[in-house]
Amino acid sequence: MHGPDRGLSRRGFVRSAVAIGGASALAACLQREETEDVPQATLAPDDLPRRQHAWNEFLSTDEDGNVRPPEHHLLLGLDYIGDGPADASEERDRLESAFRTLEKAYKRGNEGLASVIGYSPAYFDRFDAALPDEVDLPEPRALAPIEDSAIAIDEYDALVHLASDYGHVTLSAEEALKGKLEQLNGLDVEGTIDGIFDVADRRTGFIGRGLPAARQSGVSGIPESEPVPEDAPMFMGFKSGFRQNQATEDRVTIQDGPFGGGTTIHLSNIQLNLRQWYEQDSRTQRVAKMFSPSHAADDLVEGAGHNLGDSSGITDVPESAAEVAQHEGTVGHAQKAARAREDGEPIVLRRDFDSTDDDTAATHFLSLQRSIADFVKTREAMTGSDLSVMRSNSGILQYLTVRSRANYLVPPRGLRALPAPNPA
Ligand code: HEM
Repeated sequence: MHGPDRGLSRRGFVRSAVAIGGASALAACLQREETEDVPQATLAPDDLPRRQHAWNEFLSTDEDGNVRPPEHHLLLGLDYIGDGPADASEERDRLESAFRTLEKAYKRGNEGLASVIGYSPAYFDRFDAALPDEVDLPEPRALAPIEDSAIAIDEYDALVHLASDYGHVTLSAEEALKGKLEQLNGLDVEGTIDGIFDVADRRTGFIGRGLPAARQSGVSGIPESEPVPEDAPMFMGFKSGFRQNQATEDRVTIQDGPFGGGTTIHLSNIQLNLRQWYEQDSRTQRVAKMFSPSHAADDLVEGAGHNLGDSSGITDVPESAAEVAQHEGTVGHAQKAARAREDGEPIVLRRDFDSTDDDTAATHFLSLQRSIADFVKTREAMTGSDLSVMRSNSGILQYLTVRSRANYLVPPRGLRALPAPNPA
């Protein structure tokens, strides 16, 4: 059973266990979660879509048809320690078996597992050949003047994203990948990353109604009054990822060339500073800054916005963001970001989630897009340096501090094990 009626203390506990990781956290998690009915795969690996990022058709949806992201997320930053690209074929086979183990052990989706692996510019740098023209994968860089000196650029070779409604599934998948389990959900583990990749970085998080409220206590960035509402899926108090405000998987898929069927990931770590957001700003200001001043004036958002259906309604606002900024002195985050649309459709698919890693409130902002240029365009629209409005009234900029950035190429499934930049 999923939803607000599941015990909050259990959910808080599972989130902590996912954050800690390792065998004892897994054992503790297995005791607390309902573990008996995690389904094995219903499709053979060869029958899964070519796109690693084809998650939506397997994920559950809410009553309005919005994709309901898995509740627990784990990001593993990997350093390549293998023998090198010239000698990769044995390693490729082992890695492919490792991914197939995950795919066979768990049904793809919320009640099982969703996963992808992507590779960074640093990974591809070790090859003489360049990536084909269809792949836009620049080195990550600071994207706003305010970020320049403050942000870290991740240099891991690869990123694995694991997601499930069950914390113990993401933890078990991690342990299996590392070669620490002989069996995964009743099946033999057939390949591991051991000797190929070191896990250099672990980031964890969660998304879903009630989860942020259950985790707000004692977390840096959130006031002690514990203001995050019970119905909020995210720390800032609102629902996001409405169907009509997301790019489709088609829109974010690379069309041609050997990496056709792939996509790119941009991953940033964004620290949240929510004292002013919750203690000085009124609810009306929060709605205006997150959506638009007319959303606030017309009282369009009830609670976290579960009433909005499958669209934030941002494209129904008649005035442009520039006009609103000028007339109102405040402009909404969604309103600014929607300026990056092409042919009326968003160009990035957000799969972000919140985190309390290091006891700090943060968002792991993970988005998929056909090219990193699409992300940069969207981020520039969201930053809105062109708008004449004070930073504190420019959407949610004032409450976010970007700590790190990274870019990855997510190859199609057939090339997901140690791809060369110029596969045949
Ligand atoms: C903690 C950080 C963030 C929070 C809490 C947040 C929250 C939201 C919310 C509530 C919406 C309106 C509902 C929806 O359309 O799904 C929205 C829209 C959107 N956000 Fe964010 N957001 C965050 C950061 C970002 C970042 C870093 C970007 C990328 C540059 C971004 C891009 C977008 C886009 C593209 C839309 C949809 C605009 C459209 O309708 O075309 N957001 N966000």
